[in-house]
Amino acid sequence: MQNTLNKIYEEAKNAITNASSMNDIEEIKLNYLSRKGELNSIKKNLKDLSVEEKKVIGALANKISTELEESLTKKSEAIYKKELDSKLEKEKIDITLPGDFLPFGKIHPLNQTIDEITQIFQGMGFSVISNENNPELETEYVNFDCLNFPQDHPARDMQDTFYSTVAPNVILRSQTSGSQVRELLTHKPPVRIIAPGRVYRAESVSARKNNLFHQIEGLLVDKDITFGDLKGVLNEFIRVYFGGSRPTRFRTSFFPFTEPSAEIDVQCIMCQGKGCRTCSGTGWLEILGAGMVDPNVLKNVGVDPEVYSGFAFGMGVERLAMLKWAIDDIRLFFNNDTRFLKQF
Ligand code: PHE
Repeated sequence: MQNTLNKIYEEAKNAITNASSMNDIEEIKLNYLSRKGELNSIKKNLKDLSVEEKKVIGALANKISTELEESLTKKSEAIYKKELDSKLEKEKIDITLPGDFLPFGKIHPLNQTIDEITQIFQGMGFSVISNENNPELETEYVNFDCLNFPQDHPARDMQDTFYSTVAPNVILRSQTSGSQVRELLTHKPPVRIIAPGRVYRAESVSARKNNLFHQIEGLLVDKDITFGDLKGVLNEFIRVYFGGSRPTRFRTSFFPFTEPSAEIDVQCIMCQGKGCRTCSGTGWLEILGAGMVDPNVLKNVGVDPEVYSGFAFGMGVERLAMLKWAIDDIRLFFNNDTRFLKQF
């Protein structure tokens, strides 16, 4: 029995020495050390031996299997390392090859414009409205009724506003002014916010008009707010956005939700007021609608117009971007042509 064991040991030792691959290692494990291996069958037969023999043979068998396991582990580590080294040698990568080119993205010029305008107003204490008070999908009630638009106002016409065919009285907002209503319904004055976002109008698309464009709404409501405050804030905005001391002009106008209302022009930046194609010969460019918040609007949102007053304004982002960069076709913003976009 002892001889058999020693023979197995010698054989296995040899096999381990000669092993040259992980496959060889597996085979040795199977032949000598597995449950069906030769060592195990001897261990299984120990019960037929005398107590004395059991002691000696059992101890020898255990010693042999521990030793074999140890040298097998050592050998398999060596083989594994060798195989890995040769793999690494073969699969060497050339780090001098040029890498895959990942182009840098850029911020869209409209978003750059929104960011710039936002920063100017933040500098004057305005903060950006929360998303929930600035939805693109709006009710006719907020977009028109609360803003004092009469039932028969032409802006409500299906030719001007996109109506949902699924939900009655739901529209794609035609202006950001609804955010005035939503802000005042959820926040008591003092309120000082701007609301940038997309608006939609059912218009035929041209170089000057798109179905989708962007506006930035502003609203300030507090005690003792006057038209002088409105002028001061908007003149300062124009000074910073267009730079220098460009003359501005406040023209009387009408919006259902502001009284009095004004449209604000800036001296044409193309011709410095002389009159050109961009300003249709007038020397002025209209860039903003604004006015004092109509007392009816304040009442609609539960703010007492005897205590509070305020002003609101709205501007078209595309128009401001087109003027600043002398872009002559609004559709360029929406075509996703990188030749255009990468210039900004
Ligand atoms: N909502 C108006 C428009 O789309 C602009 C505006 C905003 C006018 C706020 C006055 C006050 O033309």
